[in-house]
Amino acid sequence: MKAIFLTEPGDPRAAYEIKDYHQVAEKHVHINMLMAPINPADINVLEGTYPMTPGPGGIIGNEGVGILEDKPSGYVILPNYQGCWSEKILVPSDRIIHIPNTIPLEVAASFSVNPLTALTIIDLFAVPLGGIVAVNAANSMVARVMASIAKARDIQLYGFVRRLELVDELIEAGFTGIFEDSDTSLKESRSIIPKCDLVLNQVGGKSSGRIAKLLKPYGKHVTIGAMSREPLQASNALLIFKQISYHGLWISKWLQTQSQQEIQRKVNELIKIYKEFPWLLPDAEVFAFKDFDTALNMAINGKKKVFLDFE
Ligand SMILES: NC(=O)c1ccc[n+]([C@@H]2O[C@H](COP(=O)([O-])OP(=O)(O)OC[C@H]3O[C@@H](n4cnc5c(N)ncnc54)[C@H](OP(=O)(O)O)[C@@H]3O)[C@@H](O)[C@H]2O)c1
Repeated sequence: MKAIFLTEPGDPRAAYEIKDYHQVAEKHVHINMLMAPINPADINVLEGTYPMTPGPGGIIGNEGVGILEDKPSGYVILPNYQGCWSEKILVPSDRIIHIPNTIPLEVAASFSVNPLTALTIIDLFAVPLGGIVAVNAANSMVARVMASIAKARDIQLYGFVRRLELVDELIEAGFTGIFEDSDTSLKESRSIIPKCDLVLNQVGGKSSGRIAKLLKPYGKHVTIGAMSREPLQASNALLIFKQISYHGLWISKWLQTQSQQEIQRKVNELIKIYKEFPWLLPDAEVFAFKDFDTALNMAINGKKKVFLDFE
């Protein structure tokens, strides 16, 4: 069987090798992998900037979907597991989470990281039913899943994007309103968006400072990503006069505090939400495993979501 191994982190295009390997592990279940995404965090692993890494010589890939070799009737996913970019995975049975195989493959392959992140943000930071939330990088998968959760929980979700051509698509995905993420549109968005319980920052830099201005007194500013690679901008005035609070979430760390039963319960809740309000994936392209070099280039360019097909 073949897998993608981390060599020396640095330039992501030169930090891996694809090779054959053989693994034997008694009392482990055998999973034949079907599909895995290339997530922003995987690129950070290749660069050596992500805190959870398989290390040089380890298999990369922080999520994916497969079927059990002995019981191929449903899909299995592996939340919080490094090593999904492999044709076959051997793990203890208590590591796997079950999802129905009626879910489209790309959605199933990206079920463990972004959906669990979106749901955890809403629950952990106690966004009330009918609450108000705003998010930048609103075309991200995390934000799109949040749009489905928002529909299920009657939450108003406002999004900021760098490309206005996405407005119609994102309104269809469930956003209440979409604005350009720029200084010029800030005034208009502040006049339309009610004061927010929570803002979600995935971009950093000026965008993180702008979105904070939408918060109500004691509102929560939550950072999960830094797509612009620029530092967070925090506001003295908002901290003092509105007593807003700044938070961060790393889903990998949080999942370590959760039992497998609790993770399965959350996944079941997401499946229920998906059935009623299916999230629409961002523009995506699927590449055969053998075309990994091309797939990685596409993922680094960041214009499309990229999936690897192992079949
Ligand atoms: N902390 C955690 O536990 C956790 C968990 C999951 C995800 N994340 C983070 O959340 C973010 C979204 O993840 P995802 O998988 O949902 O992403 P994704 O689907 O790959 O989408 C990435 C988004 O970032 C936007 N973007 C890319 N470069 C940008 C830039 N320079 N300035 C502004 N926006 C930019 C893209 O905008 P366009 O649509 O215009 O291309 C796109 O909307 C990432 O930072 C990821 O690392 C964190």
